[in-house]
Amino acid sequence: MIRALAIVLAIALIGSGVMADGKAVYQRCASCHLAAGEGIPAVFPPLKDRMRAISQSVEGRAYMIMAVSSGLMGSINIQGTSYMGVMPAQNLSANEVAEVLNYVSFSLVSTASEQVKPFTEQEVQAIRDEYPGANGQSVAMMRKIVNGI
Ligand code: HEC
Repeated sequence: MIRALAIVLAIALIGSGVMADGKAVYQRCASCHLAAGEGIPAVFPPLKDRMRAISQSVEGRAYMIMAVSSGLMGSINIQGTSYMGVMPAQNLSANEVAEVLNYVSFSLVSTASEQVKPFTEQEVQAIRDEYPGANGQSVAMMRKIVNGI
């Protein structure tokens, strides 16, 4: 009952143009990347701590925005573990993408040492406009920037 009310409230808030709740949006990611962003080795990559590290650079932020907006397909390697998966494009508004990336960058961390500039709806929209027609394969090409993280 309380959960149903919370969902109704969340929909009302999103509909009214108020900021989306990143934690609520993250529930869809958690079905693959798990609740604390720990992932499943060789199946679903971890987001915990990595997202905070990747969000330090302009190119890393663009990659994160486009992976969520347009999906990701290709072989990736994270600290010696290979992933050959397909992440479907997530059908989210620019505001929802900004808030979910803020959630993973600020909340799915074990230490909050580096500073992170919050993602905004404007930043997400500007990056989406820069990569029209992007898909999982083209986003995989953007990934070289995060090699080594
Ligand atoms: C259906 C499962 C699934 C869902 C749902 C999903 N992902 Fe993914 N995600 C994946 C897979 C699989 C990969 C790796 C793809 C590959 O191997 O090319 C990935 C990769 C990523 C990457 C790149 C990681 C890196 O280190 O390069 C990011 C960022 C990401 N996901 C964020 C998210 C966010 C945020 C959400 C929710 C809005 C989400 N994902 C929802 C399966 C999923």
